[in-house]
Amino acid sequence: MIVCVCNNVSDKAIRKAVEQSGVRTYIQLQRTTQTGTCCGKCTSCAKQVLKESVDAY
Ligand code: FES
Repeated sequence: MIVCVCNNVSDKAIRKAVEQSGVRTYIQLQRTTQTGTCCGKCTSCAKQVLKESVDAY
């Protein structure tokens, strides 16, 4: 599913950022994927997907 519509970032892309790019924090996710850097409406969903991805890694 697409998490960040503005920047076309999927939950899969967030998992990949955690597994392959060492992303662990929301700031790192923003820098790596641009998630949440436009309208910001995806912030809470993106943080949840990030947490689940880090916990599962
Ligand atoms: Fe993510 Fe707009 S939907 S910044």
